[in-house]
Amino acid sequence: MIFTNQLLFAFGLFISLAINADASFANQVDQLWFSNVGFNGYYDIVEHVAGNEKCECYIMDDHHYFEGSNAPLNEPLSVHFRGPLSLHKFAFYTSDAFYADSGSSSQSSTIVQQSTQLSAPTNNQQKIKRSSKDSSSWSRVAYYDHSDSSSASNVTFMNREGDKSKCLGNAISYADSTGLKKADSATILEKDNYIASDEEFIIFSNVSCPNSSVYDTCGVYREGIPAYEGFYGDVKMFLFEFEAPTESQSNSSSFESYDMPAIWVLNSKIPRQSQYPTNSNCSCWASGCGEFDIFEVINGSTNGEFYSTFHTFQGVDSVSVGLSQSAYFKRDTNGTMTGGVIFDSDGNTVSFMSDSLTFDESISASDMLKIIQGNEDDESSTTLSSVSVTYTATSITGTTSSFKNEVAILINNKLSALASFFIVLFNIL
Ligand SMILES: *[C@@H]1O[C@H](CO)[C@@H](O)[C@H](O)[C@H]1NC(C)=O
Ligand SMILES: *[C@@H]1O[C@H](CO)[C@@H](O)[C@H](O)[C@H]1NC(C)=O
Ligand SMILES: *[C@@H]1O[C@H](CO)[C@@H](O)[C@H](O)[C@H]1NC(C)=O
Ligand SMILES: *[C@@H]1O[C@H](CO)[C@@H](O)[C@H](O)[C@H]1NC(C)=O
Ligand SMILES: *[C@@H]1O[C@H](CO)[C@@H](O)[C@H](O)[C@H]1NC(C)=O
Ligand SMILES: *[C@@H]1O[C@H](CO)[C@@H](O)[C@H](O)[C@H]1NC(C)=O
Ligand SMILES: *[C@@H]1O[C@H](CO)[C@@H](O)[C@H](O)[C@H]1NC(C)=O
Repeated sequence: MIFTNQLLFAFGLFISLAINADASFANQVDQLWFSNVGFNGYYDIVEHVAGNEKCECYIMDDHHYFEGSNAPLNEPLSVHFRGPLSLHKFAFYTSDAFYADSGSSSQSSTIVQQSTQLSAPTNNQQKIKRSSKDSSSWSRVAYYDHSDSSSASNVTFMNREGDKSKCLGNAISYADSTGLKKADSATILEKDNYIASDEEFIIFSNVSCPNSSVYDTCGVYREGIPAYEGFYGDVKMFLFEFEAPTESQSNSSSFESYDMPAIWVLNSKIPRQSQYPTNSNCSCWASGCGEFDIFEVINGSTNGEFYSTFHTFQGVDSVSVGLSQSAYFKRDTNGTMTGGVIFDSDGNTVSFMSDSLTFDESISASDMLKIIQGNEDDESSTTLSSVSVTYTATSITGTTSSFKNEVAILINNKLSALASFFIVLFNIL
């Protein structure tokens, strides 16, 4: 093990040197590692979301507070796809505990890796500590395999073919088997699915949301939509097998994202409220309830490169700029890619590509660690800055253990305090 670490150290140095010589070569990686992910903060609670030409959206005076590892991305997430893309497999896993940096060696050691940060583009070296905590296996909670629609479980395919509104954009709707049109009920994506540039679909769980309410698990959402919960879990993993072939149509100004495929996760409140545009009164996106881009082509000049980006307020002033690394995954336009993202117990977010992935019902901790550690010689890492907001005594305190608990606490602590506010609100309604 010591030998391996020395080798990694040497490789790290080699990468650092190579960066100076040829940035485009050295910045291509198999793994992007973000550590210290999660902070104490808050976002706005959308209390009313409606409007056509003009917005009729309100946020509450109080905020939704969150804290702990991966926050706010420890909240339920929806999974989004933009073409050109074909989805072969999707799987969502949870684990009781997973430490992506668990060392296989008995003694704690450190490895030196290339580190880049958006705010400080110069490459510096950084020590990543090995954790010696025990990881548990991963259990599959949701699944889609294009070659066997009967195996689909706990997935609801949606797109944005619902009601149109200038203020809120298009509402979400069930997607048909092509992913492109609206369906009347939940439909499994077909085998030879393909979405072109600008086209998108979303996967939610198959758990129906309770009625729209600031006090319930799905929060307030747009009227008339099929509303489903996102994927829950502080410790979670999303795996994908997909193709992202070159766009066959020619480029024109009618495209917003020409030949820019992407896979990303959002706080699932966002698509149920208003995904595009992102008016800060109509969805929690602008106040920072969370987005993580797993594999995203950022612009037309770098359409062979997938970047990973946090769009939260951790360590950045602009949620739309967000935080990414200068390193990227190669987009293979000819073949099938397999990869995913892990949000672990210690606030490590690791996005990766790997040919050794399985999509089994259960994946052992050691198998997953092997994949991650196997990628370490081709990795870029960054540490998010520690930031927090100061809570006042009367604020709603979040809990990291589950979003449902957080809602329970919110109800218990705040109901009496807010009672008079709600009497006023009901009068308005
Ligand atoms: C949701 O998916 C699970 C797992 O496949 C299944 O057992 C359950 O019946 C589904 N629920 C609904 C409402 O479709
Ligand atoms: C949910 O909303 C519907 C329609 O407004 C109403 O009939 C139903 O009672 C509500 N359910 C709960 C649990 O409040
Ligand atoms: C489906 O996913 C949701 C969200 O993560 C989860 O709460 C639910 O338990 C899952 N259903 C099954 C049958 O595993
Ligand atoms: C949000 O609502 C407030 C209060 O009505 C308003 O002053 C503000 O301009 C709105 N913000 C946006 C982005 O529309
Ligand atoms: C495209 O994205 C890359 C990677 O972030 C960046 O280096 C480049 O400046 C961007 N190009 C344009 C034209 O915005
Ligand atoms: C497509 O055209 C737009 C300008 O309309 C340009 O910015 C973009 O880079 C082009 N994309 C590709 C892949 O050439
Ligand atoms: C992709 O495949 C085509 C034809 O099969 C070939 O011409 C092209 O060189 C390949 N591109 C890459 C990047 O491998």
